Amino acid sequence: MDCDRLWHDARLATLAASAPGPGIVEHGVIAARDGRIVHVGAAADAPGFNASETIDCEGRWITPGLIDPHTHLVWGGDRAAEFELRLAGASYEEIARAGGGIVSTMAATRAASEDELLAATLPRLDALIAEGATTVEVKSGYGLSLQGELKQLRVARALGRHRDVGIRATFLGAHALPPEYVGNPDGYIDLVCNEILPAVAAEHLADAVDAFCEGIGFSPAQVRRVFTAAKALGLPVKLHAEQLSNLHGAALAAEFGAISADHLEYLDDDGISAMARSGTVATLLPGAYYFVRETKLPPIEALRAAGVPIALATDCNPGTSPLTSPLLTMNMAATLFRLTVDECLAGVTRNAARALGLEAETGTLEAGKSCDLAIWDIERPAQLVYRMGFNPLHTRVWRGR
Ligand code: NIG
Ligand code: FE
Repeated sequence: MDCDRLWHDARLATLAASAPGPGIVEHGVIAARDGRIVHVGAAADAPGFNASETIDCEGRWITPGLIDPHTHLVWGGDRAAEFELRLAGASYEEIARAGGGIVSTMAATRAASEDELLAATLPRLDALIAEGATTVEVKSGYGLSLQGELKQLRVARALGRHRDVGIRATFLGAHALPPEYVGNPDGYIDLVCNEILPAVAAEHLADAVDAFCEGIGFSPAQVRRVFTAAKALGLPVKLHAEQLSNLHGAALAAEFGAISADHLEYLDDDGISAMARSGTVATLLPGAYYFVRETKLPPIEALRAAGVPIALATDCNPGTSPLTSPLLTMNMAATLFRLTVDECLAGVTRNAARALGLEAETGTLEAGKSCDLAIWDIERPAQLVYRMGFNPLHTRVWRGR
């Protein structure tokens, strides 16, 4: 078999859905051609290879490249002062209602140029990449105006030209009410649906549409309007749902065939059933749970019982999760949410790909998929989840390179 690159003497966690657990293959090989995996499996069963380049992995572990399926990576300014207010006793909701929170980041993001936003964002992206991320979702939602949202999404797209990483951009115009529309949220939703979203779609700046369904965000009726507009433009939807309260956002998302519903601490049984029926991924964000000191756990056992796939993401944002570590995200999911090691690994690979609609493209080590790999200096996969603040990445491969 002809190939460009061949990795051998590796231990594989393929994360293939057809295999039990993380799909372990001892003494494994992976062959790639034109950026795609053309063969993966045990060396003993492999065909003969004619490879341009051969890489001896010396027994290291290979997993799929990691996927961070929920970030707000592009923003201006910072919220360290708000963090200090919270340390002094203010809650996230109180700060948001007093005009801080998302709206303060909006002001700083609007004031920044595209170049300034790109320069501020690249170090955050680099931190994800340094831990093996090969695909990262990036949301808008700090512009909250036509020009502001377009600018933020152009920066998200530019990230993919400045780094070797897959970027999925998500339009989150319905993230917070901008000051111009205080008292007129439906007027802002008109702007989102009738002006911003069509402009975003015309420039192909978004791969999906998200909204923040919450008391301090938008009502289910308003989210329904955004989703209806997204569907009319052929864009898949996802939702910030049930983070601080239960507005039945997950069921609404499922009704629209959402690829994911995210946060979900206050998710109820009806929401779980609806997600199971629609195949909507539950994207859990343990960094935000930790950082806002939430105490209500997402209903993990019920999600498991219903067979809802669970993905994990950093939710990297300046207000509720200034986290740029997929590895620490896994540790938090295990420690705080009691996910198993296998669930954590699937959460940042196979199920994360599904949360982005990329399950045919990446997220597992299987022939035909993009050759996105993370090669680790570890003795067993549990070490990726177990340690805190330690990065055992040896090599990262994106699209075969
Ligand atoms: O995912 N929930 C809404 N959006 C973000 C927070 C954004 C912010 O506070 O700046 C989140 O938690
Ligand atoms: Fe978020």
